[in-house]
Amino acid sequence: MHTKSLSILFASMAMLAVHALGRESQLINNDWRFARGHAGDMAKDFTHGTEYFSYLTKTGGFGTDHSPISPKFSDSTWVQVTLPHDWVVDLPFSGQASHSHGYKNVGWRFPENSVGWYRKTFNVPAEDLGKHIYVEFDGIFRDAQVFCNGFYMGHEPSGYATQVYDLTEYLNYGGDNLLTVRADASTEEGWFYEGAGIYRDVTLHKVNPVHVAPFGTFVRSETAPDYSNANVLIDITVNNKGLVPAEFTVANRIFDAQGNEVARTPLSHKRLGAKQSAEITDLAAKINGVRLWSLDDPYRYTVVTDIYVNDSLADSYRTRFGVRKMEFDPAEGFKLNGKHIKLKGSNLHQDHAGVGSAIPARLWEYRVKKMQDLGSNAIRCSHNPATPVMLDICDSLGMIVIDENRLAGINDEHLDLLGRMIRRDRNHPCVALWSVFNEEWAIEQEERGRRIAESMTAYAHALDPTRLTSLGNAGGRTSVKGVDVKGYNYLCQNPIDEFHEQNPGWYSPIGSEETSGCGTRNVYRTDSVRGWMESFNRSGLDHNRIIHPMARGWQFYNSRPWLAGLFYWTGFDYRGEPNPMAWPATGSQFGIYDYCGFPKDDAFYLKAWWTDQPVLHVFPHWNHPCAEGDSIKVWAYSNCDEVELIVNGKKLGRKHMDRDGYLEWPAVYRPGKLEARGYSNGKLIKKQVVETTGAATRVVAEPYNTEFSADGQDIAIIDLSMLDSKGRLVPDAMNALTVHVDGPAEILGYGNGDPGFKEVERPARDARTFPIKTFGGKAQVLLRSLPGQAGEVTLTVAGDGITETSQKLSAK
Ligand code: GAL
Repeated sequence: MHTKSLSILFASMAMLAVHALGRESQLINNDWRFARGHAGDMAKDFTHGTEYFSYLTKTGGFGTDHSPISPKFSDSTWVQVTLPHDWVVDLPFSGQASHSHGYKNVGWRFPENSVGWYRKTFNVPAEDLGKHIYVEFDGIFRDAQVFCNGFYMGHEPSGYATQVYDLTEYLNYGGDNLLTVRADASTEEGWFYEGAGIYRDVTLHKVNPVHVAPFGTFVRSETAPDYSNANVLIDITVNNKGLVPAEFTVANRIFDAQGNEVARTPLSHKRLGAKQSAEITDLAAKINGVRLWSLDDPYRYTVVTDIYVNDSLADSYRTRFGVRKMEFDPAEGFKLNGKHIKLKGSNLHQDHAGVGSAIPARLWEYRVKKMQDLGSNAIRCSHNPATPVMLDICDSLGMIVIDENRLAGINDEHLDLLGRMIRRDRNHPCVALWSVFNEEWAIEQEERGRRIAESMTAYAHALDPTRLTSLGNAGGRTSVKGVDVKGYNYLCQNPIDEFHEQNPGWYSPIGSEETSGCGTRNVYRTDSVRGWMESFNRSGLDHNRIIHPMARGWQFYNSRPWLAGLFYWTGFDYRGEPNPMAWPATGSQFGIYDYCGFPKDDAFYLKAWWTDQPVLHVFPHWNHPCAEGDSIKVWAYSNCDEVELIVNGKKLGRKHMDRDGYLEWPAVYRPGKLEARGYSNGKLIKKQVVETTGAATRVVAEPYNTEFSADGQDIAIIDLSMLDSKGRLVPDAMNALTVHVDGPAEILGYGNGDPGFKEVERPARDARTFPIKTFGGKAQVLLRSLPGQAGEVTLTVAGDGITETSQKLSAK
């Protein structure tokens, strides 16, 4: 995965084979077949495992002709799917389903929906005989069994681990081959929506018998005190998967982003017996005049590791890396390349409207950029290792990441999972910390908890001496001491100042979670039947004990230089955990953005104080946020020195804005208009008008991207907004619309950010037309290209009494 760059990802993701001499890596996400099996009835699970000689008793699929693992099985009734794929998206909602997973009918109560089967046929040419061929799954949710041509390849309980399987001896060279995956999502691994299926990328790798092992490079660097140069140290793990011993030479060359060689390590020679692996460590090189990786200039170098056997090139492996120094200084907080930076972060789950956990690369880019629009510079991957695609995007966009391990523990299985995350992700310059676990309530107050955290930390340091560990602490006083950088989940439950007074030498801590308090976009009254919630930032949290928790969090972290920064819970809404609500609410409302990425009012509080752009956002909207004649508060988020408010022509006063503050005015609601004026240094610099609008009469499409690759993988993201006859956004419009697509693209999914959403999220694969609804004046449609089919795509959106719109897009 190290060789993937954004341009590769977006240029031609599925079709592109990365041919470096001696190595070929191809994404095989297209053309899979899918069907649901059964978790409680083996007869309905395609009789898998019931055979006289099952996959566990005999190898090679002997006697399993009727099972999907066999090439003889016919999957003609199965549906065609493209990966990444989350089958839960297509399941209905119900009040009997899991609260934490968004009331989708999956899990142990729904055995008929909880096992998914995938099959993929692929050809391997005869000339590949002699190569070493392996497949890499970046994540299967969960409890995956993997088969190749009927042979059992292995089993991975974790839904979050990258899995690699050696196919070499099982393949038909010069013929068709079959991969079969059975995933069982009966059991949950998290308390948030997790989806189900092969929800991350699959890559087929072909290498020579002597090759760099999967994730077999570790590139680290140390900068000179004046940052003018860097010493680079490289560890390489080489496999000899062949049947004869091999002597080989390893050569590393470092290239800058323009492809110029800037340094190389001395050659290293070694002999490996058959089926042996060796690690060659501390190969050193120096980059003079080094260009650092930073948030403004996320510059990366590439190490090309060449392996020569008998003087011919056996492998050429690319590792992208960045040179940067990260410090968690006890007194001065987080520093990147010696410069103090406050971490302005949020937590993100892998979950988005219309696709669930199967987030394509383009959508990850959209999500990371949305966070950057607010001035955010950091993401915590809650509560599992990130998908490699997302880390590549954070590397290239300059976003700092906390990569988080899923399960706490020090037995072999747990350390193996922690180790696999670190080995896979340790070359990403964006990764700042390894978070070993989150809120382990049973052990937070226990010495055992501290010992587990210390052991996990020691293990992490052994695999990566360049990074510190952290964990998300729910208020306990003991286990958190076992990690380097203390992570506090919520200042209301952690003794942050007290710990600091007692331990001034601790690494600068982080607020690993802090309440965003946002509630439902464009809704100003709680309605538990619909699942809508007023923002706690207006209503007050915890019986009004905490006024504006979002501002309180930022003010706390921003006013203490020894704190590295904070991560709001969460950047985007996600499905599940609609706390404190329950069915019929289905989605969480903790997001600064809703489930689609539409900003809630409180996003502008952060934008005001996290960016240098002039911001003035006055709210609520003026389309009956309450009954006519009711008292209401009008709020302003702004970084202007003063804001003046005029409500229906009446001046309500010009107020001074405190740093990191917000303003509110008591008013009376009557249809009409709000006018806000922002002044800095006495000068009017921003104006905003919010009017009571008419009903929606028009829909407009705003594409995030109008071009996308015709590779069957890339998507176009199109936001829809409802306007009235005067062209004003109708902030409470709930319209039934129909979308229609012409040209080479399919409707991948849709959402509207409603936390009570219970609609069908996507049509059957070949449908061109699909009914959708707007929520709070907005909806979002995701279109996916078709492999190898370039051309013009037209999205038409229509509705009763609505002037339709057409948006042209181009699949290239
Ligand atoms: C935290 C937890 C998060 C999420 C959040 C909801 O305790 O770490 O994963 O569940 O609560 O409030």
